[in-house]
Amino acid sequence: MPFATVNGIRLVYDIRGQGIPVLWIHGFPLGRWLWDPQVEALADIARSITVDLRGFGGSSAPEGPYTMETYAADLRGLLDTLGVDHVVLAGLSMGGYVAFAFYAAYPERVRGLILADTRHQADTPEARANRYALIERIRAEGTPAAIEAFLPRLFGATTQRERSELVETLRRKMLTNPAAGLIGALQAMAERPDRTELLPRIQVPTLVIVGEEDGVAPPEVARQMAEGIPNAQLVVIPRAGHLANVEAPEAFNEGVRSFLSNL
Ligand code: MLT
Repeated sequence: MPFATVNGIRLVYDIRGQGIPVLWIHGFPLGRWLWDPQVEALADIARSITVDLRGFGGSSAPEGPYTMETYAADLRGLLDTLGVDHVVLAGLSMGGYVAFAFYAAYPERVRGLILADTRHQADTPEARANRYALIERIRAEGTPAAIEAFLPRLFGATTQRERSELVETLRRKMLTNPAAGLIGALQAMAERPDRTELLPRIQVPTLVIVGEEDGVAPPEVARQMAEGIPNAQLVVIPRAGHLANVEAPEAFNEGVRSFLSNL
């Protein structure tokens, strides 16, 4: 398992494929394995870098607090270590929140953005309170509390009805995340800034992509983001929910391939 030491912690990553460098940023409570359906299928066009964010998978899980800016600084450190100057940043959900933080801090490193099943708004007070309540449950019960809370929201109705084996496989992978990292991520999400004012300032080509059955970051939010970003296109993936890249990889990859081909 290759790893880099960045900002005093260990970040586990993989690199595969040839072509445009793409840094894929996973969501919560996931890991770099989220992007397996993209890495191989796009290996002829994308040099894919996948990484476990701090607190996830095989990466270090130091004490918090974590912020979106911390994750972004880690990723910049990783790119520096790998000698990669410019990337397309692809973030799903929480990965999208990190991509916004990265773009806000280091726009010169970004060649394009793929914002998948994510949102630009900050948490509502209710959503923030729910995250802090879940943090308390994780402190008491460990990682399974987080997975139990999130699993039903992650998949679309079609996947839940027709593909219970996929849900089960991903559930097992999510359970490998350490509690400390999940707590850090929940707090980082709760405290993340609103990015509405960043949208019109995004100057790189952007693909906004969303599962039509996504209940966490629904198509309506994706539409608002795409309308707010000057050079953005929107792709809606049928029969997929919040994990559109895993639930409908062919359609997702087709959208990404076409976007990368036109960069
Ligand atoms: C994620 O998939 O990363 C999370 O559902 C995002 C969130 O809870 O806001």
